Amino acid sequence: MASKKSSAKREPDSAILVMHGPNLNLLGTREPAVYGYETLEDINHTLVNTGLREGIRVETFQSNHEGALVERIHAARTDGTRFVIINPAAFTHTSVAIRDALAGVALPFIEVHLSNVHKREPFRHHSYFSDVAVGTIVGLGSKGYLLALGYAIDAVRR
Ligand code: DQA
Repeated sequence: MASKKSSAKREPDSAILVMHGPNLNLLGTREPAVYGYETLEDINHTLVNTGLREGIRVETFQSNHEGALVERIHAARTDGTRFVIINPAAFTHTSVAIRDALAGVALPFIEVHLSNVHKREPFRHHSYFSDVAVGTIVGLGSKGYLLALGYAIDAVRR
């Protein structure tokens, strides 16, 4: 007789956490020539649904506050998160605290930017994250998150 476990619908067991930093809640109306017309809700919806299709739990989190982002990363240590995708937004260029939080929980992460920060103002060229990230994706708009998710799904399955 088949065990209850094997006949049950498979529950997603691995989590990928997608984090968005300050002002990304304004996507869709914020400088659309730079960041596109998709809203954060649209982007998150696509990511969560892609995860569902693959049997992987994808969670999303946005905050305009550095401390809230640090605390969400701390929680990721014990909530089943196996991989992080993060667009630290303006904190990319300023936040030792978020960098240290990611290093502190020792979770692999990909840094994503919608715009090509290297084509923009010099203060956007430096990142506190790139040298500790698994990889970085810049300038590909919201597709960057999807590409990162594809990599993260393969990584958590390994
Ligand atoms: C950004 C680039 C950052 O320089 C900027 O502060 C953002 C968005 C991007 O996705 O292109 O808020 O991270």
